[in-house]
Amino acid sequence: MIARMATNPLPQFPAGFLWGVSTSAHQIEGAVDERAPSVWDAFSAGPGHIKDGSTAAVACDHFHRYPEDVALLAGLGVDAYRFSISWPRVNSPGGLDFYDRLVDALCAAGVRPVPTLFHWDLPAELDWMDRDTAERFAEYASVVAGRLGDRVKKWITLNEPAEHTLLGHALGAHAPGKQLLFDALPVAHHQLLAHGLAVRALRAAGADDIGIANSHGPTWAASDRTEDVEAADFYDLLLNRLFADPVLLGQYPEGIGELMPGDVESDLKIIAEPVDWYGINYYQPTEVGAPEGAEIEFSGLTLPAELPFTVKELEGYPVTDFGWPVVPEALTELLVGFRERYGDRLPPVVITENGCSYDGIDDQERITFLDGHVRALHRALEQGIDVRGYFVWSLMDNFEWAEGYERRFGLVHVDYDTLERTPKASYNWLRDALRAQR
Ligand code: FCB
Repeated sequence: MIARMATNPLPQFPAGFLWGVSTSAHQIEGAVDERAPSVWDAFSAGPGHIKDGSTAAVACDHFHRYPEDVALLAGLGVDAYRFSISWPRVNSPGGLDFYDRLVDALCAAGVRPVPTLFHWDLPAELDWMDRDTAERFAEYASVVAGRLGDRVKKWITLNEPAEHTLLGHALGAHAPGKQLLFDALPVAHHQLLAHGLAVRALRAAGADDIGIANSHGPTWAASDRTEDVEAADFYDLLLNRLFADPVLLGQYPEGIGELMPGDVESDLKIIAEPVDWYGINYYQPTEVGAPEGAEIEFSGLTLPAELPFTVKELEGYPVTDFGWPVVPEALTELLVGFRERYGDRLPPVVITENGCSYDGIDDQERITFLDGHVRALHRALEQGIDVRGYFVWSLMDNFEWAEGYERRFGLVHVDYDTLERTPKASYNWLRDALRAQR
């Protein structure tokens, strides 16, 4: 396959800018029989929970094929690889040995390991509604850091606690499949507390390069009518501020703290334990309007009528195979908006995920997507935003949660019958683009 260069060379990023790709354990590892169960194993077995009826039992079989995947990373020429550590696997005999081998292989290939400690695959016996889960997470973080901290320098505590709260506990579209709506708020608080406790645990183990990967995107009001603007502000609070304000400012947005369990004021001191950098997963902006009193079908989800907002389909933009609008300039807007909101409380930023689902190995659309977003990121740098890295989601096609295997986000194609990996045109494009940055 010959990659056609889509566009002009990318603008030059500062020396030391970290280029990487991301994956997560549950989405690629497989080998479920070689670890304790997670909430996703039980959820995937439920009727209709995964659209194509699949599970992650085999996924990309990365657990057994990681040497091949590390070779793909080396061939791509990335500086860093963001992967996640499966907590249930670490709880299983020999589980941590796997990550030890993976980290060794990455270091030998000259790729910096950047593990995320929690990417949604909670051990099956735990529940984020319980405060104790936060304490258990900090213990787990200490164990992992004790074993890998001699080679791992950059750490991520949690991935997208917003989606895990909303999709997993409020709407029931992800594991553990709870439909608690606003009663799911303790799940948000306990994950944030887990983050803060883990920052302390990692620091105690000698780490000094710690971040979180939160998902964010601009919220656009459907019109300037007061009802639409208020609904959009509320959505923005839930999706953007609820997980950023406590970490960056040590406070919840107005009206939220009193809904949270426990001694919230003293917990906030832990949650605001300073991070060394702030990770943002960006995919798309969202248009939001006043509630219309009816269920809404949106991005594969059914949103209940009682939500105080309506999420609209954005019109006038190309969409990915997932139906997500492609709006690179909203990444610049997001970052500039973050600096306006958080000022000097915002540490350096790393884009910990950005990518798109398209079928096909000659994936010119993905090249156009990535090219546009990298340029949008550079425009943020030109406006003085301190961005230190960019990670593409994802190295390879994988188990896309409730969507199963139908959404392909990879730079590398995976044939799920043979598990053969085939670099796509976008892999070659990124490899060449990274060479030009050196
Ligand atoms: C993010 C998740 C990641 C993947 C991408 C497409 O929300 O963190 O695991 O599913 O979306």
